[in-house]
Amino acid sequence: MKFNLTRSDPTTLKTDCLVVGILAEGKLTPSAQKADRANQGLVRRLVRRGDIQGNCGETLIVPDLSSTTTQRLLLVGLGKASTSGIAEFKQAADAAARALSRLPVQNAVITLAEAVISDLDVHARVRLLASSITDATYHFDQLKSKKPRKKNTLNRVSFSMTDRASTHHARRAVQESQALASGLNLARDLSNLPGNICTPTYLATQARKLRRSHGLKVSILDERKMEQLGMGSLLSVSKGSRQPAKLIIMEHQGGDRGQAPIALIGKGLTFDAGGISLKPAGGMHEMKYDMCGGASVFGALVAVAEMGLKLNVIGMVPSSENLPDGAANKPGDIVTSMSGKTIEILNTDAEGRLILCDALTYAERYKPAAVIDIATLTGACVVALGHPASAVFSNNDDLARELLKAGEETRDRAWHMPLWDEYQAQLRSGFADVANIGGRGAGAVTAACFLSRFAEGMTWAHLDIAGSAWKSGTKIGATGRPVTLLTQFLINRAS
Ligand code: BES
Ligand code: MN
Ligand code: ZN
Repeated sequence: MKFNLTRSDPTTLKTDCLVVGILAEGKLTPSAQKADRANQGLVRRLVRRGDIQGNCGETLIVPDLSSTTTQRLLLVGLGKASTSGIAEFKQAADAAARALSRLPVQNAVITLAEAVISDLDVHARVRLLASSITDATYHFDQLKSKKPRKKNTLNRVSFSMTDRASTHHARRAVQESQALASGLNLARDLSNLPGNICTPTYLATQARKLRRSHGLKVSILDERKMEQLGMGSLLSVSKGSRQPAKLIIMEHQGGDRGQAPIALIGKGLTFDAGGISLKPAGGMHEMKYDMCGGASVFGALVAVAEMGLKLNVIGMVPSSENLPDGAANKPGDIVTSMSGKTIEILNTDAEGRLILCDALTYAERYKPAAVIDIATLTGACVVALGHPASAVFSNNDDLARELLKAGEETRDRAWHMPLWDEYQAQLRSGFADVANIGGRGAGAVTAACFLSRFAEGMTWAHLDIAGSAWKSGTKIGATGRPVTLLTQFLINRAS
């Protein structure tokens, strides 16, 4: 998808589809008025007939115009401008993007960013529109032998912005959206790939490619190196697998030499069968998505690299499989982590925290300004928050607030969860320093508590994305979340 900005009168542009907004009670936006005039009062006529009322998210396609420039018109209801905020705008943007993605068009001109929406600025409007389009036009068909590709697929979208004062902000939003789309699509592709293709070695190979394509500094720690470092916890998860574990490290050096980096650590479990504490068969295939946290780190790094963000960012992806095997971890096993802390593995299916804790300890050497881990960590998180929200845990309330804000701004939302000392007691072990599970209650919280033990000296946050990272059922597929939240957090940090 190619995004660009145009300052010409949208009705004079040659396009397969012109998208204009209709406000509540059939009030025409400035672009709708222009389209109306250019087409002999057609838009007003349709409004008067009641074909479109201007309710938020309503769409109407006018498939054939006599105009020599505009082939089709897509009218989009924006609701009441005075009362609508980000939720309504996103709803309208999603509806427009979905309608566009179903049309046999290659290009479109969108005027909705110039709509007068109360508390949203131009930058936010362009970003939200582009994000809806990126979402609606994503397809994963690389493993189908016959591509179900339509004759014409949308590949160029121009944002029309006739107001001169806003072009600077709009241009920045277009550039960010373009980079973000690359990051999101990479994250979704990696996530959707099955476990037999997307192995730790495959992820390491993809990371190495980012050296040339994105100028990232990439290093891969293999099992021998991890052994030397004493990563007994991470390596214990990989013991039951024939695929060697990897610790992937990608660096974007956009800031000053001495500037403390932001470290992102993504869980890269390429398939989680649960190990000896085997998961039930139903739905187990979805555990190919247990590397979505790692994929979101790939995505965020690609996005900030394409933006040329003036910030130092380190992405780390500890990657392994979790399978049952004669050599696999057994319940009751005690392993020694890189930090020196011993861990009693009471359930081999609580493996994400076992690979993340050694990566957290490794991150200390970068003296990061903040470290954020991202993981499909617990089924309990899905029970608590479902799919709309990622969970945020942090030992620093300011960091938590920054992450929540980045999520609100971009509609990639998260919710602040408690990390209280009271929960820590659930991790007591009779035989080791800490147990890897915390019993029945508050599973997402005790998982975060476990990680907090390995982040003590650092400003740290943990995002549990078990609910937000993919959709099940008929719409099954990775969402790319929280690439947008992470990237916005980094943009905000850089400015
Ligand atoms: N990858 C899973 C968490 C998960 C489950 C994510 C369902 C998305 C959907 C994780 O490794 C896991 O198995 N966690 C266990 C922890 C438990 C044993 C304490 C879980 O949530 O059941
Ligand atoms: Mn598991
Ligand atoms: Zn897992």
